[in-house]
Amino acid sequence: MKNTIQLIKNHSSVRSFKDEPLSDEVKTQLLDAAKAGSSSHFIQATSIIEITDKQIKNELADLSNSAPYIKTTGSFFVFIADLYRDAEILKTNHQSLAAVANMEALIAGVVDTTIAGENMALAAEALDLGICFIGGIRNDLQRVSELLKLPKFTVPIFGLTVGIPNQRSEIKPRLPKANTIFQNQYDFKAATDLRKYTKKTAAYYAERETNQQDVNWTQKMQEFFAEPSRQDVADFIREQGFRP
Ligand SMILES: Cc1cc2nc3c(=O)[nH]c(=O)nc-3n(C[C@H](O)[C@H](O)[C@H](O)COP(=O)(O)O)c2cc1C
Repeated sequence: MKNTIQLIKNHSSVRSFKDEPLSDEVKTQLLDAAKAGSSSHFIQATSIIEITDKQIKNELADLSNSAPYIKTTGSFFVFIADLYRDAEILKTNHQSLAAVANMEALIAGVVDTTIAGENMALAAEALDLGICFIGGIRNDLQRVSELLKLPKFTVPIFGLTVGIPNQRSEIKPRLPKANTIFQNQYDFKAATDLRKYTKKTAAYYAERETNQQDVNWTQKMQEFFAEPSRQDVADFIREQGFRP
């Protein structure tokens, strides 16, 4: 077992996998790790669906725009913020569903689900496997929901590909602590003085081994936030019964 902190710091997403399934034993370890995370008020508002059906996997891969690495990954899991169980408990007890339908419950579900996902990712990396989160499943939440037969009070948050890496990428330089870690109060100046990081990321994108680009992180953010993305997410959440 590697040193845990070093393992965390060595993370990089893998987007090229050997076309080999994971053993049941490995999958059990990954799922146990996912389920061991903290949970807000112990509501455990997460379900994980392993996608073993080739047709469903292919459709999820295509709609996610991440086809090559989802189709060949060892295993693909979809992580779902899930308050359906709680809603059913309340219904059986003839209680109002208002408390599972509100924004606070939804945030708790999204946080629980994210903790479970990162736990699985770290467990996979500890086993020398590679992972990539796939937010691309939110490109078409309606279709994902149909494919996975999701009930009300559930929202798919991301997929997670886990497999044997063909190739690992370099570690991406993170925003410096000077821009992101503060004491006692928010530091407006430090948060936005991105000159060093802009320079560092320009060098990273220009010099990395694959997919070299003449760009820096600041420009990437300008491009990414030029248009709002996935504008139907809010409608989907409301259709699922949430009243944020
Ligand atoms: C919630 C979430 C969703 C993501 N969705 C995708 C995705 O759909 N496709 C993809 O290729 N990478 C996806 N990523 C991976 C990020 O692009 C990646 O983590 C980021 O560029 C940092 O690179 P690193 O993980 O190699 O350090 C996602 C990451 C997170 C946390």
